[in-house]
Amino acid sequence: MSMLRTLLRDGYDGHAGRRVTFLHYARGPEDQIFADELRAIAEADNGVDVHLRHGDRTFSEFELRRLVPSYRDTDTWLCGPAGLVELVTEAYGDSPRLRMEFFKPSVARAASGDADVTGEVAFERSGVTAANTGTSLLEQAEALGLRPEHGCRMGICFSCTSTKRSGTVRNVLTGEESALPDEEIRICVSTPVGDCHVDL
Ligand code: FES
Repeated sequence: MSMLRTLLRDGYDGHAGRRVTFLHYARGPEDQIFADELRAIAEADNGVDVHLRHGDRTFSEFELRRLVPSYRDTDTWLCGPAGLVELVTEAYGDSPRLRMEFFKPSVARAASGDADVTGEVAFERSGVTAANTGTSLLEQAEALGLRPEHGCRMGICFSCTSTKRSGTVRNVLTGEESALPDEEIRICVSTPVGDCHVDL
């Protein structure tokens, strides 16, 4: 997505005969990241074909071949969870045209370590307070029925960024703790350490 944005920002319009095929899988429409932006890109005359797949439509070589018959000879950038990466890698065989980013989140649960899972978590705008369970703030919010905006759930896309009003959080990717007030945090990779107030 980042590369697609950069291409379009720099004036790419596909008129040089090199089209872009953007293929994305999500569990369902409600989990579709960048949905509005992708809709706008799909509708514009920009040389980009957007294909969004939801539900049971997981990756298949058959479908990729239908969309891009010469995909093995096409520069391809792949990003996703391990299962998808494995399937796509298999489809490309030894083709050198496939590049990938392989994200394997080390989402260490605070509850599983020596972390402090005491205290209360307050989602201020929603008026909801509950005991800290030690999981990420995103998971705790969802467990309480809130629907915070999010995308990757692994600290990459920043779409879950929210303001922590007070309290300490631990970044589960780095282990770093921060107690700064009014701090922008990614709630998908932040676990509260003791009491924590979030503007959600
Ligand atoms: S959901 Fe992507 S960074 Fe949190």
